[in-house]
Amino acid sequence: MGKKLIVGNWKMHFTVGQASLFLHRLQEKVVTSRDVETVLCPNFLALQPLSLQVDHHKFKLGAQDCYEKDEGPFTGEISATMLRGLVKYVIAGHSERRYVIGESDKLIARKVAAAVRNDLTPILCVGETEVERKHGETRDVLHDQVVTGLSHLTAAEVKKMVIAYEPVWAIGTGNFARPDDAAEAVAVIRSQIKALYGTPASLMVRVLYGGSVDADNAGAYLVSHGVDGLLVGGASLNHHVFAQIVAKAHAIAEQQK
Ligand code: PGA
Repeated sequence: MGKKLIVGNWKMHFTVGQASLFLHRLQEKVVTSRDVETVLCPNFLALQPLSLQVDHHKFKLGAQDCYEKDEGPFTGEISATMLRGLVKYVIAGHSERRYVIGESDKLIARKVAAAVRNDLTPILCVGETEVERKHGETRDVLHDQVVTGLSHLTAAEVKKMVIAYEPVWAIGTGNFARPDDAAEAVAVIRSQIKALYGTPASLMVRVLYGGSVDADNAGAYLVSHGVDGLLVGGASLNHHVFAQIVAKAHAIAEQQK
């Protein structure tokens, strides 16, 4: 069993000062464990100061997005080249970027490639909407998002990346996916990776579940077959709850040894 990966996505929350105070509290609460890698994804502004403050043994940092190009006349964008050295991970294709900002599968694929080109680990988010789910299209949606999202990568690059299964209807709604359904979707994702990149890549790629994860339901996903960790939004903004989720991951990793 590999390490559990717990990622906190703070989204567009916290000023720089609030983020720093929150990190301070979190560092006091969260217990380090070799079996769990914990990643914090603050906003771009907070990344630089937090990279100086963070206890690197406890937390890695991640960015919530990056641009597809490394530099140039792209007003307002932040490149993976700029994030190099500051973060280890970059989220790509979060559903809020797909459906609120309007990013396409192809743009997301170029962002994933930009992250890899700059030695950052992409966390590619995929997942069906409520309507797609009702129409029984989950498998097809996951297929399209995985095929296109990874289209610029080699099997060796896919092995090292992270995919997060995040059903859109579960994000920020409190309406979390049943652990069995999440495990089934994760299995679908792995079988697609197997068909495209071979068995080793399908076994080694880390796959997370995200969508209304909290301290009460986290354990059920973490024991599900094929689920390597969690992408946590709302619950990552409460240091007590986030520390409990990390502790749960540690306890389960211990049991699975
Ligand atoms: P949530 O968000 O945990 O608040 O549902 C998850 C995410 O957006 O990654």
